[in-house]
Amino acid sequence: MASLPQLALEATRLQGKVALITGGARGIGACMARLFSRHGAKVVIADIRDQQGQAVCNDIGSKYASYVHCDVTKESDVETAVNTAIFKHQKLDILVNNAFIINEAKPSIVDNEVTEFERILSVNLTGPFLGTKHAAKVMIPERKGSIINVGSVCSSVGGVATHAYTSSKHGLVGLTKNGAAELGKFGIRVNCVSPYFVANVAAKDFFQLDDEGCSSVYSNLEGIYLQEEDVAQAALYLASDESRYISGHNLAIDGGFTSINPIFGLFSRSK
Ligand SMILES: NC(=O)c1ccc[n+]([C@@H]2O[C@H](COP(=O)([O-])OP(=O)(O)OC[C@H]3O[C@@H](n4cnc5c(N)ncnc54)[C@H](O)[C@@H]3O)[C@@H](O)[C@H]2O)c1
Repeated sequence: MASLPQLALEATRLQGKVALITGGARGIGACMARLFSRHGAKVVIADIRDQQGQAVCNDIGSKYASYVHCDVTKESDVETAVNTAIFKHQKLDILVNNAFIINEAKPSIVDNEVTEFERILSVNLTGPFLGTKHAAKVMIPERKGSIINVGSVCSSVGGVATHAYTSSKHGLVGLTKNGAAELGKFGIRVNCVSPYFVANVAAKDFFQLDDEGCSSVYSNLEGIYLQEEDVAQAALYLASDESRYISGHNLAIDGGFTSINPIFGLFSRSK
C-alpha cells in the first residue's frame, strides 16, 4: 500500500498547470477535465454543448474549471478559447484536442456524400490543426507545453468505423508527428492517445448497442472493458512532466487490439 506522502504526490501530478480540453462537455473529455482538476490543474472546457459543459464545470467547481463556447471548426472560436485560458490563468500548459463527430455508417462508399466526409474532417482533423496552431502561439514563447490529440484504434487500422472517421483519425497521427517535429525545438511535446471501444453514449449510439451488446464486444484482454477513466489516465500521464521526453507518440489504449490478429494463428480466437 502507498504511504501517505506518496499519495499526496500522486494527487497533484498537474499542480499549477492550465489545460484546455476541447469536447469536454461530456464523455471522455469531461472525464479528463475531472481527473486533471483532481490533480491540481485549472481546466478550461471548450465545446458547443454549452449547458452540459457549464454543468461539468459547476460540478468540478469554479476554482478549477471554466467553460468557453467553441466550435473547433471555427478559427476565431479556437483563438478565443486559447485566449480565455490565458486571460483567466495567464498561461496554457496543456491542450487536449478531443472534440469529435462521426457520421452515420453506410454499407457502401458509393452512398457516402463528399459534404459529409468533409464535415467529419473539419471537426476531427481541422479542429486539432487549429487547436495546435493557436496553442503553439502561446506555448512557443514559454518554450514548453503538452499537446494531446485523441485518436482511436481507427488511427492505425481500417474496418472499424466509417471512411471519414478512419481517415480523420489516421490524419490526426500525421498531425501529431508533424507537430512534434516542428515544436520539439521549443520544448513542446505533441502526442496522441488512441482508445478502443469505450461503452459511452457516443459509442453506443454509433454501434447501436445497448448495455448487453456492449458487454459482448470483443476485448483482447478478456473480461476487462475499457472505460473513459482509462483514457483520461493515459492523457494525464502525457500531460504531466512524468512523460517529459515522450513526443510524437501514438499511445494505443486498446488492450492489444491493434497489435495482434485474433482471427488466424497460434493464438486464434476465431472459434
Ligand atoms: N467512445 C469511444 O469508444 C471512443 C473510441 C475511440 C476514440 N474515441 C475518441 O474519444 C474522443 C471523445 O469521444 P467521446 O466518446 O467522449 O464522445 P462524445 O460525443 O461523448 O464527446 C465529444 C464531444 O465533442 C463535442 N464536439 C462535437 N463537435 C464539436 C465542435 N465542432 N466543436 C467543439 N466541440 C465539439 C461534443 O459536443 C461532445 O461534448 C473523440 O476524439 C473520439 O474519437 C472514442
